[in-house]
Amino acid sequence: MELTKETRERFSHESELSKEMLNGALHEALTKIDKNTKTFINTFPRPASTNYVYPGILNGGEWDDWTSGFWTGILWLSYEITHEERYKKVAAFQTKSYEERIDNKVGVNHHDLGFLYTPSVVAHYKVTGNNMAKEAGVKAAAHLMGRFKEKGEFIQAWGELDDPNAYRLIIDCNLNVPLLFWASEATGDPKYREIAAKHINTAANVVLRDDSSTHHTYYFDPETGKPLKGVTAQGASDISAWSRGQAWGVYGFPLAYSYLKDEKFIKLYKRVTNYFLNHLPKDNVCYWDLSFDESSNEEKDTSAAAIAVCGMLEMDKYLPDSDPDKKIYANAVKAIMGSLIAKYTTKDIERCNGLLKEAVYSKPHRIGVEECCIWGDYFYMEALVRIMKPEWKKYW
Ligand code: GLY
Repeated sequence: MELTKETRERFSHESELSKEMLNGALHEALTKIDKNTKTFINTFPRPASTNYVYPGILNGGEWDDWTSGFWTGILWLSYEITHEERYKKVAAFQTKSYEERIDNKVGVNHHDLGFLYTPSVVAHYKVTGNNMAKEAGVKAAAHLMGRFKEKGEFIQAWGELDDPNAYRLIIDCNLNVPLLFWASEATGDPKYREIAAKHINTAANVVLRDDSSTHHTYYFDPETGKPLKGVTAQGASDISAWSRGQAWGVYGFPLAYSYLKDEKFIKLYKRVTNYFLNHLPKDNVCYWDLSFDESSNEEKDTSAAAIAVCGMLEMDKYLPDSDPDKKIYANAVKAIMGSLIAKYTTKDIERCNGLLKEAVYSKPHRIGVEECCIWGDYFYMEALVRIMKPEWKKYW
């Protein structure tokens, strides 16, 4: 899909994203994070807040905890942008809990080990060279490899590995495979990278529809490995584009490009990003499904907006200046971030311990609707760090 004329016009000029706005946003975020460092040391924020307050859970303490890594990642980002040791101290302390979680196999029988282990222990290793963190990350990568299915060549997202009804990948895994790419770099063993490349190539073949919207999940035939059908789990319908799924595409394909340097991922990035931008409402922050607009009365998903910003910033490193859309994406980053900062931070909700309001975990499941979601907070912080410290090295 090409960018529409309206999208080109909308992002033909630079929106204001001044140093003052960014400094103010960072200051507000760090004020909330500082308070959280007193509470979330042995515990972690639940995936979504309740009435804008995250309760604490143990690492792996609840069935839906695929998200502890984001809080630890927020601490690493805070350390990298401020050089304040207190963030590093809490983040480094938490590595032990990730090590225990993978050693004891607590809540790790799913594909979200990248979300759990990349912003936490991989970040720890990348920032400080810590060996315990490296080992925990490699163990998590090895465990993730166990979900790879030869027939169909993909990493099975959820469910028991012998369940034929669970034989599917999901687009979110775009952000889990970087753990495997990293494990090959960290160990020198190519086996992780080989599986990561197979998975992302399979995903690339099936998750996009012809119009460049994305399926959330895609089933395969367990006997033959043949791709069968796309089905949503968290989107509005099987034929719509769940905003966060599309955003996992906007960020995941640039990450695949960063490791594989295959031009195909640039083309995929442009297709999914153009679709995403073409379906933004007036204030540039998407609804939770891209099929909705202002007339819908549906909720936004600020977390999807923050993820997409990180994806566009990552791809900006690889797109040549001659690319006719490069400037449009750069302007879109500023417009979306400007809108998030102006309208969607939690600065006016004193009791709130999250950073970005109006995220949606899963509307069909009625969980975390119009709440803070911890990955939204993480990617918002990552976007701030990427913009304010362009030399920042990615954890993914
Ligand atoms: N990976 C699950 C989600 O985005 O909700």
